[in-house]
Amino acid sequence: MSNSAQINVDGNTYELPVIEGTENEKAIDISKLRGQSGVITIDPGFKNTGSTQSAITFLDGEKGILRYRGYSIEELAEKSSFLEVSYLLIYGELPTAEQYANFKKDITRHTMVHEDVKKILEGFPSVAHPMGVLSSLVCAQTAFYPESLDPNRSGEEVDLSIVRLIAKLPTFAAWSYKNQIGHPVNYPDNSLDYASNFLKMMFANPAENFDVDPVVADALDKLLILHADHEQNCSASTVRIVGSSHASMYASISAGINALWGPLHGGANQAVIEMLENIKNDGGDTKKWMAKAKDKDDPFRLMGFGHRVYKNFDPRARIIKKAADDVLEKLGVNDPILDIAKGLEEEALKDQYFVDRKLYPNVDFYSGIIYRALGIPTDMFTVMFAIGRLPGWIAQWKEMRENKEPIGRPRQVYTGYNERSYTDIGQR
Ligand code: CMC
Repeated sequence: MSNSAQINVDGNTYELPVIEGTENEKAIDISKLRGQSGVITIDPGFKNTGSTQSAITFLDGEKGILRYRGYSIEELAEKSSFLEVSYLLIYGELPTAEQYANFKKDITRHTMVHEDVKKILEGFPSVAHPMGVLSSLVCAQTAFYPESLDPNRSGEEVDLSIVRLIAKLPTFAAWSYKNQIGHPVNYPDNSLDYASNFLKMMFANPAENFDVDPVVADALDKLLILHADHEQNCSASTVRIVGSSHASMYASISAGINALWGPLHGGANQAVIEMLENIKNDGGDTKKWMAKAKDKDDPFRLMGFGHRVYKNFDPRARIIKKAADDVLEKLGVNDPILDIAKGLEEEALKDQYFVDRKLYPNVDFYSGIIYRALGIPTDMFTVMFAIGRLPGWIAQWKEMRENKEPIGRPRQVYTGYNERSYTDIGQR
């Protein structure tokens, strides 16, 4: 039978349904296996386990394909805008001109944040990493909008939370940076587009006029599009699993921000630049660092290389590599670490270790170089990723709730002690 699979356990055969997606991806549905056989499946890191059926993003890691709602990332990066892509991801279709105008107007209206947010911000020491600050401020929205805690809100009420979060995230992000450097915060400028408003809040001195460089704003908008969703990655899965307990959208996305922070996920963009800087300061000997990356006794990994699903190339990395060249040229920036990055890539692509393991540059390998050229400080890189990923997280959270998915609760295989007697040391 083509639409079922059989599994034999202890001499018994169980028939399991096989489901198929719109791109002919097949999956064995094991959800009833334990009930039938008492046996579970195990797959640490979910390397081969689908957690949901989703209509948001398709990617084919072997062919290097990435599409949001059926539209290729290449076409969207070239022709669309971040807010249009956000609408597409969240609501499933590209907006009409009227829908887009209304969406943009709504987002613009909600960029201001409650003044008390400043008090929370001021409680953080200046050394606080902006990712920790960002996730805290997002979670704190549950306090300013307690109605968001109600899991049974109407679609319209949820839409309002969505607009608020997309509108306010750049404000939180820029303010977390301003707090870090001890400068007064800038309020949003609603005459500007999404990326320009963020850049002004980041870099303007309130006492002077500030003109956003359109090259910088365009480059940022494109980077946000490239990061906007990536199906069931670590942070999206976190958002879905937290939201599956009916925690609020703000709490779920705050958790996603924390998941993104790690250097194996979104934090890699910061780690890449730090690595490239180290290589440069160490004399630029890329071969030495390649050897370290291959040495199993050395914890060092080539940051920005490898991906759980891309085993040929990461289409986002291709676009970003070209964008890095364009942006640096347009801005007249000559960054020596771009040459180190290209040298490392060239060596890795012909090195047997990397070839055998299908390790290619990922989205984070070149994005940091662009952020740097745009003047974004290194520890804000992952914050930029978070702003870009927000519509994806929202779409994943919304889909999970609308599909009424059950609470996420994996099983385990217990490997600890069997029952044993308590040793009384007479503490009572
Ligand atoms: N440098 C050196 N060796 C590597 C690297 C690397 N960057 N990545 C994987 N390997 C090796 C790994 O040691 C293993 O070797 P072996 O088979 O001999 O044990 C093999 O390749 C498979 O790696 P894995 O860790 O089992 O693969 P994974 O799917 O669990 O991990 C990854 C994927 C992205 C966490 C990993 O490739 C990595 O740590 N890369 C560096 C961090 C990075 O750039 N992360 C950003 C990912 S893209 C942005 C995002 O969406 O999160």
